[in-house]
Amino acid sequence: MPDEALADRRETRTKLEVRGLTIAYNRRESEHADVAVEGVDFSVMAQEFICVVGPSGCGKSSILNVIAGLLSPAAGVILVDGKSVAGEDRNRAVVFQAPNLLPWRTALENVRYGLDLWGMPRGDANRRAKEVLELVGLTHRENNYPHELSGGMQQRVNLARALAVDPDILLLDEPFAALDAQSRETMQTELLRIWTATRKTSLFVTHQIDEAVVLADRVIVLGKGPGHIKEIIEINLPRPRDNLIRRHPDFFRYEDRIRALINDDTAHGSTFFLD
Ligand SMILES: Nc1ncnc2c1ncn2[C@@H]1O[C@H](COP(=O)(O)OP(=O)(O)OP(=O)(O)O)[C@@H](O)[C@H]1O
Ligand SMILES: [Mg+2]
Repeated sequence: MPDEALADRRETRTKLEVRGLTIAYNRRESEHADVAVEGVDFSVMAQEFICVVGPSGCGKSSILNVIAGLLSPAAGVILVDGKSVAGEDRNRAVVFQAPNLLPWRTALENVRYGLDLWGMPRGDANRRAKEVLELVGLTHRENNYPHELSGGMQQRVNLARALAVDPDILLLDEPFAALDAQSRETMQTELLRIWTATRKTSLFVTHQIDEAVVLADRVIVLGKGPGHIKEIIEINLPRPRDNLIRRHPDFFRYEDRIRALINDDTAHGSTFFLD
């Protein structure tokens, strides 16, 4: 399908809105709270893939945790489909850097875990778990225990577990950070394939600028002190993509632009387009 046609099919409905988000942590030795993130606003369209980048400590994980409902903000609201949400729910699934699989459960049983908790009948839960394991390319390892799987395979199980509950929004916090460079690139390609198949609205936090450019429709660049949005960059590279997108002539321009923003704390602006 031509890229234009694919782009046209993308829904333009707002799925997730983050409004006036401020996050503060209480410091043990002081009465004052430290403001980690201040005044963050952005929207994510349905079926959009957003990457969040920024220096260590700028508040990427904090923002993701608030959206996931794992952390309460000092101010601001999270809206899903226009409705304010708080606390965890199954429509916002999270994938963290550590797969955190249950060692006594097989790959299939790990993927089934959330479905078992809901009380889904065993047969249906097995069917659904097998379906998502196939999606992540792990059908042949469904009976293996986590220690029998490579780091990349464990992270695929983790991703399958998040997808199994068919969430509205997928939140990923540096899911490939612990993998070696080659596995990481493989997983990026796999994630692009899975996203093309599911078109899940996704928010993906990463340290790696090239990873963000490979994956994203838009990249949110955060600055530090306290964390704030410096710029939101549209990545107008063709889809469907795979890792060969790195050879696109515009790829390095996007990378350089984001790197410059992260390195230059004085840069300001709104949305950046390549001409
Ligand atoms: N539980 C906590 N208690 C106190 N301060 C915290 C806590 N979690 C995070 N912070 C502080 O909030 C700020 C943002 O942290 P956060 O982990 O969100 O950053 P990050 O961008 O995800 O960093 P990294 O890239 O290293 O993962 C940092 O200054 C950090 O020290
Ligand atoms: Mg983090």
